[in-house]
Amino acid sequence: MNILKDTFGRKFPYIRLSISDVCNFKCGYCLPNGYQVDKNDNRKFLHLDEIKRLANCFSELGVNKIRITGGEPTVRKDFFDIIKVLKFESGIQNVSITTNGYKLDKKAEQLVNSGLTGINISIDSLDREIFKNITGHDRLPEILNGIESLQSIGFENIKINAVLLNGINSSIKDFNNWAKFIEKNKIDLRYIELMRTGDNLDYFKKYHVSSKIFKEYLKENKWIYQTFGKDAGPSLNYINPKYEGRFGIIAPYSEDFCKSCNRLRVTSRGDLRLCLFGNTGINLRHLLQKDDQLNELKDLIMKQMQFKKESHYLELGETGSTINLSKTGG
Ligand code: 5AD
Ligand code: SF4
Repeated sequence: MNILKDTFGRKFPYIRLSISDVCNFKCGYCLPNGYQVDKNDNRKFLHLDEIKRLANCFSELGVNKIRITGGEPTVRKDFFDIIKVLKFESGIQNVSITTNGYKLDKKAEQLVNSGLTGINISIDSLDREIFKNITGHDRLPEILNGIESLQSIGFENIKINAVLLNGINSSIKDFNNWAKFIEKNKIDLRYIELMRTGDNLDYFKKYHVSSKIFKEYLKENKWIYQTFGKDAGPSLNYINPKYEGRFGIIAPYSEDFCKSCNRLRVTSRGDLRLCLFGNTGINLRHLLQKDDQLNELKDLIMKQMQFKKESHYLELGETGSTINLSKTGG
């Protein structure tokens, strides 16, 4: 089996595929004015057949995990068909999604039935008002109910992402709320440092804060850093014997962040992105049209690996081609 590797010795068993740029939330750091339709752009999102060929190809290149992102992936009408095809027809074992949790209470059962193996839900705060202010939607209760539904049918692989926002969800009280939540819930809660994108400079300046404040909290409260194998990905994880769940930190501005990079991205229009923040990316779509293009597609992807850079250079103020994360798939 060919394993995708770059010139720095990193391996890529993991793909993140966006299936739509469209999102129905208005998170302040991403789409503060909501999703805007670009009238000049008539390129459609990858369709089911293209997605299936892409996943087959990555599976042959040694990929065993795919994460479906957006925008908000569940807004696509054929969303459940996509999950089923990936899980049962592509050869990739792990199929997970990142979602804003919209109507999760109604979708939980169907998600599990479609073969999903993991879910990441974005919840920036457990405080209903704060949640509403950040996302533009008063939907926290339905998301929390959705999580309960997932758990009640025995679905265990649940992670929650919260973007750390200075003065909004960065107090000891916020951290304690999460601690209480994961005390009895076997869920990973990860704080992500706010990233600067092409669109959000003012917001970034106002609310970006280093995850050190959360690290200090973890230290004071006796959370234990859990080391993982080399291919575990860029989250730093912490455990505490009194708690069912774990805490995590995703700190893209930290020095070693890119060393554990284990993923490639494909946008909803079929552009391969070697890095979330890279300018490098070529379109794969012309090789997703027929089944007999498989070998050509494999060659093209393998050749691209030599262009993957060592780091994202975010600390130098680079944002690459990332306008906002709904466009590249977070
Ligand atoms: N910085 C950090 N995280 C972000 N997300 C979206 N935009 C940003 C940003 N600028 C997060 C979402 C979601 C995940 C897909 O990425 O909140 O959890
Ligand atoms: Fe939508 Fe996610 Fe962007 Fe929020 S962060 S607006 S949920 S794509």
